[in-house]
Amino acid sequence: MSDQEAAGRRLAVLISGRGSNLQAIIDAIAAGSLGATIAVVVSNRADAQGLARARAAGIKARVVDHRDYDSREAFDAALVEQLRARHVDLVSLAGFMRLLGPVMIRAFPNAILNIHPSLLPAFPGLEAQRQALEHGVKVSGATVHLVTPELDAGPIVLQAAVPVREDDTVDTLAARILVQEHRIYPQAIGDVLGGGWSVEGRRFVRAATAEPTSASRLPVGS
Ligand code: GRF
Repeated sequence: MSDQEAAGRRLAVLISGRGSNLQAIIDAIAAGSLGATIAVVVSNRADAQGLARARAAGIKARVVDHRDYDSREAFDAALVEQLRARHVDLVSLAGFMRLLGPVMIRAFPNAILNIHPSLLPAFPGLEAQRQALEHGVKVSGATVHLVTPELDAGPIVLQAAVPVREDDTVDTLAARILVQEHRIYPQAIGDVLGGGWSVEGRRFVRAATAEPTSASRLPVGS
């Protein structure tokens, strides 16, 4: 795919809060290192800080409040309607705190990405950094994966590891992991939009000719 074609690929970013990963994606596009356009940012919370980041970057931002819907199916259908209206190719969950059901997953098969602050399959679910500290692991990190119906269990696109230090708190570990999240999420989005991959069983497999991104070659970060 040419750079021009890739830049035409339309991304949606779904958020619930701070939006620092959204900002990393906005910055990567602005820097020319991610060939894509953010067609829309959708938050399920009107007070999400990330909405202001989107608007500051001139990106259309929408609120779809889950409390306005009486079922997950109805909420998902409202999301699908917003995303289809914007002709979205790929959906990135970036701190989006709602579980997606079959309505969304079927509408975007193998086209929804999530970022999770642990080395999956370790520590899925909430408070992954706290889970890692309490378990006593010496290495943790971040994972970008395709979204499937099972929580935090879809095919892994990219991971980055960070050391866990003796004196870490949840906040210091989360901050170290976040640096890696901001690095690998735009790279993983670029990988997925670039094509040349398939899903085999539960593995995300790049075609033999596809070069791994620099992120997947890096040693444990500091
Ligand atoms: C990140 O740690 C991400 O891995 C997790 O939620 C957090 C969102 O942070 N899913 P932000 O809203 O992108 O700043």
